[in-house]
Parts: sequence; C-alpha cells; structure tokens
Amino acid sequence: MRTQVGIVGAGPAGLLLSHMLHLQGIESVVLERNSRNDVEAIIKAGVLEQGTVDLMNEIGAGQRMMKEGFHHEGIILRFDGRDERIDFPSLTGGKKVTIYAQHDVNKDLIKARLDSGGDVRFEAKVDAVYDLDTTEPKIHFRTKDGERVELTCDFIAGCDGTQGICRPSIPAGVVKVYERLYPFGWFGILCRAPLSSEELIYAMHERGFVLVSTRSPDIQRMYFQCSPTEKIADWPDDKVWAEFRARLATRDGWAPKEGEIFSKTVIGMRSLVVEPLRHGRLFLAGDSGHVVPPTGAKGLNLAASDAQILARALIAFYKKGRSDLLDQYSATALRRIWKATRFSWWMTSMLHTFPGSDEFQHRLQVAELDYVTSSRAASTALAENYVGLPIE
Ligand code: PHB
Repeated sequence: MRTQVGIVGAGPAGLLLSHMLHLQGIESVVLERNSRNDVEAIIKAGVLEQGTVDLMNEIGAGQRMMKEGFHHEGIILRFDGRDERIDFPSLTGGKKVTIYAQHDVNKDLIKARLDSGGDVRFEAKVDAVYDLDTTEPKIHFRTKDGERVELTCDFIAGCDGTQGICRPSIPAGVVKVYERLYPFGWFGILCRAPLSSEELIYAMHERGFVLVSTRSPDIQRMYFQCSPTEKIADWPDDKVWAEFRARLATRDGWAPKEGEIFSKTVIGMRSLVVEPLRHGRLFLAGDSGHVVPPTGAKGLNLAASDAQILARALIAFYKKGRSDLLDQYSATALRRIWKATRFSWWMTSMLHTFPGSDEFQHRLQVAELDYVTSSRAASTALAENYVGLPIE
C-alpha cells in the first residue's frame, strides 16, 4: 500500500494535518490505534486560542465549535481573597479564546475527514516506522481484523502522542529530550451543576491552586492542586467540595455551585520538549514532540500550530518542489513550542504552592499577581500568550 503522507495518530495534530493536506489535493492515510468511540471520548482541556479557532473555521470544521463553544473575552485571577480580570480583546487587538473540549474538536475533525472521503483507520496498531532516512519511509501496522500491512510513504507524520511509537523510533543520540517534572498534580472533577462563573477562574491559595472551568451549561470542570500520588479513594465528595470552598473563598463570600460529581481523576504535571522534531522523513507533531502542564491550556493549541507549520511545508514541497520549509519545520515549530513552554511554566509557578514553600514565597506570589493584574504591560504579556502567539 502507498500514500503521500502517512500519519500516525488521529488526535488533533494528525487530523488537522490530514485535512489541510486534503484541501490542497495531497493524499494521506491516518492510522489510529484506538476505536473511533475511544478517540472521541478522550477528555482533555478545551481552551482554543484565537488562531486555533480561525484554523478550524478556515478548513470548514468550525461550525459546531462556533455554535456550542463558549467564547470568552477574559479570565479571572483570584488571589488574596479578591478577583482581578484580564480582558483579552482590549489588550490583544480584539482576540479572545473559545472553550470547547478536545473530544469535540476531535469529533468535528473526524467527521470532516470522513465526509470528504478521507482515509482514517481506527484500531490500526502501528508496530514500526522504518526506512526513515530514505525517500520511501514505511509504516507497518495491523488492522482490526489482524491483517498485516506495510504502508510506503513520501513522508511520515508522528502525531501519536507521548506514549506513541514514532518518537522512540528515532535512533538514540539523534534527539535530546528536555524535561521538568512538577512536584504536584491536579485533582480534576466533572460535576452536574450550573456555571459557577461566566469566565474561568485561576485561583492562587496557600492550600494550593484551583481552576474553575466548564464543559457545558450543566456540566462543570474543576481542578485543585494535589500531590502527584494523591489517591482518589481518599476524596469523598463532601471533602472535595470543602477543599474547593476553602481555596476559592473571597472576602465577599463567594462559593462554587455544587452538584453530583461523576468523574474524578488525578493528572501529573510536566514539561517536555524533544529536539529536533525531525529525523529524515519522520516529523513529530503534537504531544509526541512536547508536553506542557495544563495551566496555560496550550497542549491542543501547540498540536494545531505544529500541524499548520508542517502542512505548509509539505504543501510547498508538493506544489513548488521546495524542501526548505521542511528543513526549517523543527526550528520554526520549536520557537513557538518553547515560548508556550515558558508561559505554561510561568503560569504554573505563579499560581501553585510548591512543597516547602513559606510565607515569604507566598507574599512574593501575591505581589506578582498584584503586579500582573495592575500593570497594563504585564497584563498584556499574559493576555497575548493566553490568546496565542503568532505562528512565526
Ligand atoms: C479545562 O477546562 O479542562 C482546562 C481549562 C483551562 C486550563 C486547563 C484545563 O488551563
């Protein structure tokens, strides 16, 4: 079997890439190890930068997002018992963000690919990518019926996430991995309750960070900072709500709207960047090349910008015979990735309580938040990173 671009992984990076290529007449096959149901159910953060929203619209997959997403013009930073708002449009020349969950983005992209005759194969288990430094790199996979297939490509896009096979297929010594683990995690809940706040609340408290987010008018997403080894069994619902109430208290007595909790998860926090994002004709895009802590909500948006940079480079190759953009892919993508990595690390450091932290440290963090929310220059720096930096 043969295709132009073999894409491993049907997450946002792989599907966006496949669809952008399709719109320019370039053929691809997307191979995904999970079932369609499972891919559409992966619950992840859903803050789309303005550029990600624009991209979904440009490729014709943005209709449901525009209708059902929440279009937010700011966020609330809560600290020292008070709220300060960062207003995006006035600080960024009119930009905002859209709250729309990753599984909804994925659902819309899968539909867009399949409606236009795209070749997306679910339950296709890739067991090897090889001949990467030749002009005919290959993917070996097993179909859901157990058939073994070799797919010969011009290029391979490794969009198969942190646990995927593409990154480890690059020979040792070729790439360097930069990593930082954070000494805490997030305890996340989904609950049936009305909105507690019209905008996301990022709260800094001595007991630890809290985020108040949303999934729909009746389903809310909230997180509190916990130990990376926190046990869900130690957190009955009433204890969870008591913790949220304690950390979210303001001087004027604010409290979250409570409801039935139907999901509890603990997620780890780390930053990771792989350099370079290319080996021969294999290109890494999305989580296979980098991971950010969720505080800045950058993961999905970086997947989208990687896909855009790679699509542009492949289109220049097929349409104009140019390989310079492919040669620059890693460096171009990494400049944006490192800036998002810095922003996510900064938001994380400013808002969380580190183990062993003392009152001096706490007061520094309050002072930083006071500065960030009272200086136009500092608010602008936060806002322009949050709504998304330009691609180049
Ligand atoms: C979420 O809604 O899950 C979410 C929102 C914002 C973040 C992280 C997660 O920064």
